[in-house]
Amino acid sequence: MAEFPITLTTTPKQPPADDTLRFGNVFTDHMFMMEYDDGRGWHNPRIVPYAPFSLDPACCVLHYAQAVFDGLKAFRGPDGRIRIFRGPDHAARLNRSSERLCIPQIDPELIEESFRALIEVDQRWVPAKPGTALYIRPTIIATETFLGVHPSHSYLYYVILSPVGAYYAEGMNPVKILATDTHVRAVQGGLGAAKTAGNYAASLYGAEEAQKAGFTQVLWLDGVEHRYLDEVGTMNIMLKIGDEVITPPLNGAILAGITRESTLRLMRDWGLRVSERQVAIDEVVAASQNGTLAEMWGTGTAAVVSPVGELGYKGERIVINGGKTGALTQRLYDAIVGIQYGTLPDPYGWARPLGNRQAAA
Ligand code: COI
Repeated sequence: MAEFPITLTTTPKQPPADDTLRFGNVFTDHMFMMEYDDGRGWHNPRIVPYAPFSLDPACCVLHYAQAVFDGLKAFRGPDGRIRIFRGPDHAARLNRSSERLCIPQIDPELIEESFRALIEVDQRWVPAKPGTALYIRPTIIATETFLGVHPSHSYLYYVILSPVGAYYAEGMNPVKILATDTHVRAVQGGLGAAKTAGNYAASLYGAEEAQKAGFTQVLWLDGVEHRYLDEVGTMNIMLKIGDEVITPPLNGAILAGITRESTLRLMRDWGLRVSERQVAIDEVVAASQNGTLAEMWGTGTAAVVSPVGELGYKGERIVINGGKTGALTQRLYDAIVGIQYGTLPDPYGWARPLGNRQAAA
């Protein structure tokens, strides 16, 4: 296990009460930092007090958005133990995002150790109330000072932690999403599969419009024909038509969600008929009209498993399952959170307890 130098804060804060937690507005006392320079590689890993850092106004990330991040969670179970959900998979995905953005790879074990070591220092911040978690946000930014467009020669990797409640104000209640054929989030061959800052910037305008129209989020359609479902931006999308569960395939334009993969695995192990295939918005509309559109939900680290109660498209509002959480959506939510909090068996070794890396390996 890697040992990192630790500088403890001299002004520790009081973590907020679990029942006041929202998403991503409170941060813990410490953060992990490490730099990269060409010739030296990644160096100087350390844990320091959480604080602002200064950047040169000409630094690359501020102009050309050469940045990647990931998001994962640690959970405190009723047994008092803290478990990180699929840390190695998130480390691998961070490196895949980095590759697409020409950012140098980090040893995945070092990434995982950065999560573990930081959480150990700030473990009093891991909330215990069901539905809460400690959100982990590893981030890499390009720090070279120059205005020419080429990959940076220096980077900063840092990890911050945030105790969180539900991502949506609706909590586990069904959200309303709007399929837009006006704006696009990503196209195949672009950056859509990478967890990179620009994808989220690209989503803001459409999301604002959706919110003004009374929807929680946008359901992005493919960037060429504006016809096939892509993803929601903060979650992958899944639906059940008849007895078939469908989710869009990993086509390079959508994020390879870890919760997506986890729920697909569960459903296949339950013997359900699961297809990763293109699904056109017209197919969804037709299924709603002929009564076979049974359920729709999103999956994501922040969103967990979120039921979709209403889908807007071309001025029409399609109510799904009477606007209520469907049985399969609920079953998936219960199975995932049961594994995350250690209240259900974890045959997949997804939720690894802190301080016991071998136990679930
Ligand atoms: C996540 O689910 O971890 C995300 O990154 C979504 C959003 C908060 C950006």
